[in-house]
Order: sequence, then structure tokens, then C-alpha cells
Amino acid sequence: MVREHDQRADHRRPRPLRRRSPGTAVPGVRDLRRLLGFASWVLGAVLLAAAGCTAWAVQAHADEALQITLAAAVVVLALLAMVLLVTVRRLMVVPITLLGRQVRRVTEGEFERSVEGTGPNEIVGLGEDVDLMRRRIIDEWTSANEARRMLDEHAEELRRSNAELEQFAYVASHDLQEPLRKVASFSRLLKRRYAGRLDERADAYLDFAADGADRMQAMVAGLLEFSRVGRRGHGAADGTAVDLTEAARQALASLATAREESGARVEILPLPTVRGDAVLLRQLLQNLIGNAIRFRGGEPPRIRLAARRAGDEWEFSCVDNGIGIDPEHAERIFVIFQRLHPREEYEGTGIGLSLCRKIVEHHGGRIWLDTSPRERGAVFRWTLPRWSATAYGDGE
Ligand SMILES: Nc1ncnc2c1ncn2[C@@H]1O[C@H](COP(=O)(O)OP(=O)(O)OP(=O)(O)O)[C@@H](O)[C@H]1O
Ligand SMILES: [Mg+2]
Repeated sequence: MVREHDQRADHRRPRPLRRRSPGTAVPGVRDLRRLLGFASWVLGAVLLAAAGCTAWAVQAHADEALQITLAAAVVVLALLAMVLLVTVRRLMVVPITLLGRQVRRVTEGEFERSVEGTGPNEIVGLGEDVDLMRRRIIDEWTSANEARRMLDEHAEELRRSNAELEQFAYVASHDLQEPLRKVASFSRLLKRRYAGRLDERADAYLDFAADGADRMQAMVAGLLEFSRVGRRGHGAADGTAVDLTEAARQALASLATAREESGARVEILPLPTVRGDAVLLRQLLQNLIGNAIRFRGGEPPRIRLAARRAGDEWEFSCVDNGIGIDPEHAERIFVIFQRLHPREEYEGTGIGLSLCRKIVEHHGGRIWLDTSPRERGAVFRWTLPRWSATAYGDGE
């Protein structure tokens, strides 16, 4: 695994590319400069001669000779200018135009076409530099593509194994229910029929068996519920409009007994309407409020549910005044079957928060324990996409 990673990192690093040695057969810019110097020297000499001839012609009134000399000078000058023009065009303009054309092709996406300069060494060198750059870009691009492909493959593998695990949890918990129900009901029957008829130790064993079967039943039911979240198709993308204020009221109604017994006061500030699965979202609120009631301190629970806009999302909070949670357990509490207290102190199976996380993530949000220091109580925060809410009105 480590080696594979190293190899990938190596692959991503651009390989050093060797530059070809400059060609020697082509004339360089220095030759051109020499040629130009020579040409201007010849031109100057010709011009001087023409000027001498002109002076002589003026003195000797030799109009005809003057005309011939001037004409000859003009012809020579014109010839030289043409030669110069052709040379400069052949040595500079043509190679640069050709190079420009090749570079343009590359910038237009023809990365596989190599770039080659012709003409003076400087232009050949420039062409090689451009080609080096092109090969580097191809290299980087290929390794980036390879990395992306591997990432996609891993993501797909992860999705597959996740789905398999979910399927396994679903099938196992579903199929376990029936035999477990039998064990639980016969343990209870045994206890009812034979309690007191056997010795004390047998009574204790019957209690343990019945209690264990009950607990296992609760855990298997929780696991089944947990594995069902991913199987339900309706998330934020394809769910229905869910008024969360209404969902919170329904969740509270289901907790009526616990609420009355504890004397809890629950304040529900206006919550938005979001898109999702109504049953799951109600379950999320019920688990959080249920926890806030159950994990209370000495005073009657005070619980507050609120929402605020945070960019593209809604951020919700559930604040209580209970026993609170040590920040070091902030992640652990979201793991399935993880609990912080013995069952004798606070009952529960440790499913609730893992289910909450799954429900929120299924709807495209996040959930976390707010670990900022506070005097007492716990604060849970979670987000849900807001775009879905705007389609149905904000609920504010
Ligand atoms: N509001 C809270 N205040 C203090 N501790 C909490 C609160 N909510 C959760 N916890 C802690 O996190 C643990 C995990 O919570 P979770 O809801 O997953 O399980 P549970 O409530 O114990 O069991 P279940 O939800 O299955 O009935 C709890 O056992 C408790 O220790
Ligand atoms: Mg719970």
C-alpha cells in the first residue's frame, strides 16, 4: 500500500526531460549580423562612389556620365536591398512564423504534435524550449489524469463495499430478529412460569437470560433501523417538502411521557421547511430531544431547537442544560453502540446519535457536537442544504 502510494507520488513528479543539442548546419543570427554589416559597408562605399561621381559630373558638365553612374548606383542599391530583404525573410520571418503556427496548434489542444524550430540557432533553441514545455504539460496532465482515475476507482470501491456492508447489516439484523424474538419470549415465559420454583441462582440466571435477550432485540432492531437509512431513497435531492417545525412537534408528541415525567420545557424556534424524508427527519429530532431529556442533570431539562442561515445551508442547533459531554468524546458518541454511561445510570443502546449522523449525511448535511466551552449542558449542531428549502419557502 505504502509502495503503491510512493509510486503514485513519483509518477506525479514531472520527469526531467533532456534538451537536444543545438543543430550546427543552420546559419545563426550572428551570421546574419555579419552579413548585414558587410552589406551596409558595401552600400556606404557605393554611396560614396556615387557621391564622388556626382561631384565629378557636376564639375565636368558630363551629364551623360552622371546619369549612367547614378543609374548604376541606384540599380546596385536596389539589388542589395532585395538581397537583404530576402535574406532577412529567409532567416528570421519564415522560421518565426512557422514556430508561431506550431505553438498555436499546441495551444489549440494538439498536445501530441511536437514543436520544432528552424532557421537560426536561437529560433531552434526557442522551439526546443517550447517543446520541452509541451512535453512537461503532457506529463503533468497524464499523471493528474492517472491520479484522478485511481481516486475514482477507490471511491467506487468504497461505495461498493459500503453498500455490501449495509446489505449485510440489513440482512443479518432482519434475519436475526425472528430467532431472537423466540429466545426473548421463551426466556420471559420461563421466568414467569418457573420463577420462585427453582433455587435463587436459577432465578438470577433466568433474569440474566431475559434481560440479555431484550437488550439484544433492541440492538438488532436499532441495527436494522440504521441499515435502512441508506436504503431509503429519499434524501435532500428527491425527498418531499418537510416542515421541520411540524416534525419537531410530532417528535415531541412521541416523547410526551418522558417529557412529563422529567418536567422538561422544550422551546422550538421557527424552523425551515427542507426537502427530504419526513420519517427520518422526525426521527433525527426525536433522538436529539430524547437524549436531551434523558441525559439531564439535577434540574428539569430546558431544551431549545433553533435554525439559522449559513450560506447555502441551514444550521440547526439543539441546546440543553443536562450533564454535558466531555469534548474528548465528541466523535466517539456518533459511533454505533458507543455509550458514555453504564446502563444502570442511563439506559439506551447507543444507536441514536449514529442514526442521527446517518440521517443528516443522507440528506447532504453534517452533524457535530459543539465543543466550545460552556457551563453545563450539550449543544448539537447540524446542517441541511438550503437550496431545497428555498424551493418550498424558508419556513421563517
Ligand atoms: N444531550 C446529551 N447530553 C449528554 N450526553 C449525551 C447527550 N446525547 C448523547 N449523549 C451521550 O452520547 C451517548 C450516545 O448517544 P446515543 O443517542 O447514540 O445513544 P443512547 O442515547 O445511549 O442510546 P439510544 O439512543 O440507542 O437509546 C449517550 O450514551 C450519552 O452518553
Ligand atoms: Mg440516544
